[in-house]
Order: sequence, then structure tokens, then C-alpha cells
Amino acid sequence: MTPPPEVVRPELDGPFPEHIAVVMDGNGRWAEERSKPRVFGHRAGVESVREVVTSCARMGVQSLTLYAFSVENWKRPEAEISQLMRLLKVFLVQERRVLMKNGVRLRGLGRLEDLPQAALKELRNTEELTKDNDGMLLRLALSYGSRTELAEAARQLALDVREGALDPERIDDETLRTYLYDPLTPDPDLLIRTAGEMRLSNFLLWQSSYSELYVTERCWPDFREPELMEAISAYATRRRKYGGLAETEREAVGEEGAGA
Ligand code: FPP
Repeated sequence: MTPPPEVVRPELDGPFPEHIAVVMDGNGRWAEERSKPRVFGHRAGVESVREVVTSCARMGVQSLTLYAFSVENWKRPEAEISQLMRLLKVFLVQERRVLMKNGVRLRGLGRLEDLPQAALKELRNTEELTKDNDGMLLRLALSYGSRTELAEAARQLALDVREGALDPERIDDETLRTYLYDPLTPDPDLLIRTAGEMRLSNFLLWQSSYSELYVTERCWPDFREPELMEAISAYATRRRKYGGLAETEREAVGEEGAGA
């Protein structure tokens, strides 16, 4: 087992996000701005993945979830899909050293069976190699779509009801959670989207119900450690209320136990 490197938490004026999720957008635009083919942007995007993974691991982020390939991305031209799958395969082999050095545990999230055999094999090998690392959990969302995840959960839940293994009267939101791909990882605290679009694009719709959103105009290949720090500092200024009142507001109305 590889211990994580010494964790150096940044000094912040507020809370630190234990789970960060990222919609890595803008590789194509970044390449276009440089009159290069789209794959040039995806390759540069891999460099950002490496830098962000390493920084998060060293800062002691518990979980990082990266939206690397959506179920909708299968609609892209075949050539781009194969380039992305080749990049993924190479990444999964080449990054092993960095993942091990930083104590990172890697896990795939999504309809992994849709991946080409070669990429799936390297994913499984890297998952196996890193499974005992006790640093950050890195989840790569691959062939991932939230609606698909929820539909699959509903299907399994209905089967369990039909078989008598689940009482429909007892289903609540926590029951549904147990049918999701990875029910044990806590929800993202901070959800970052690069390249300026103001949407979730079918990413962690259930899990991001109370995530703090941070959208930057920067394209993913330009999102590196300083940009990550800006996002984390912005998170530290947010007040999370989960539909209730903030601690200071509870104190103001004199609620007993406020601040507990
Ligand atoms: C969005 O850019 C990005 C993707 C569809 C995939 C993300 C892939 C990477 C960062 C590189 C590969 C990752 C790994 C983990 C090996 P876009 O093409 O939609 O950009 P655009 O909106 O500007 O066209």
C-alpha cells in the first residue's frame, strides 16, 4: 500500500471542499482558437487532468470526480471518439506512476461496459493496482449520464420490489441513493465547470443537489493549479444552507443549539 504524500491544506477563510467534481469543457474551443484539430485540445486537456489530480491529492481533497466522457459523447464523429478512447487508454497506463506516487485510488463511474475492450482492460488494471492506496479517490466518469444512472437505479429498484426484497412504502431518497453507481462516496461539495456554459449536462444530477457551482470562462486546457485554487477559494466564501438557515442566521433568531 502506498501512503499519500504529505497533505498540505491551503490556508482559507472558510471550509475546504472534500469532494470536487469537474465538467471539463472547452478542449475543442481551445484548439480552434489555435487553429489546431480538436484532438490537440484533448491532449492539452490530459495535462490539466494530471495537474489537477496531483494538486487535489496533495491538498488532501478526499474525492475528485472528472467528467471524461458522457453517454451523449458517443454521438461525436467516430474519429474523435477513437482519439479520445486512445488518449484514455494511454492515460490509464502512463498515469499509474503518478497515481501511485500520490496515493490516489482510481475508479471508473458510468456504463463502463460500453468502453472499447482495450480501454476497459487498462481501466480495470489501474483500478486494481491503485485499490489499496489510501489517499484521494479519483473517479473518472466514463460513458456516464445521470439520467441513465437514475433509470438503471429505478429499474433495479422495481425488480427488487417485484421480488419482494424491497417494501415500496419504505422507499425514500436514501433508498434510491443505494441504487446509484457509487452510493458510498459523499456528494460533491464543489462542482466546477470550465468554458463558461451554465449547465450541468447530465452530470451527477442527484448528487449535486446541494453542490456549490463554480463556472469559469477558462477552457479546460487552461485550467491548472492557480485556477483550481481560485475555485477552492471561492468555495470557502460560500455559505451552505441546504434549504435551512446559516449558523449566523440561526443565532440571530435565537435558536437553541445554534452553532452545534
Ligand atoms: C470537452 O471538450 C471535453 C471532453 C468531451 C472530454 C474530456 C477529455 C479530456 C479532458 C481528455 C481526456 C481525458 C482523460 C481522462 C484521458 P469539448 O470537446 O466538448 O470542447 P468544446 O465544447 O469546446 O468543443
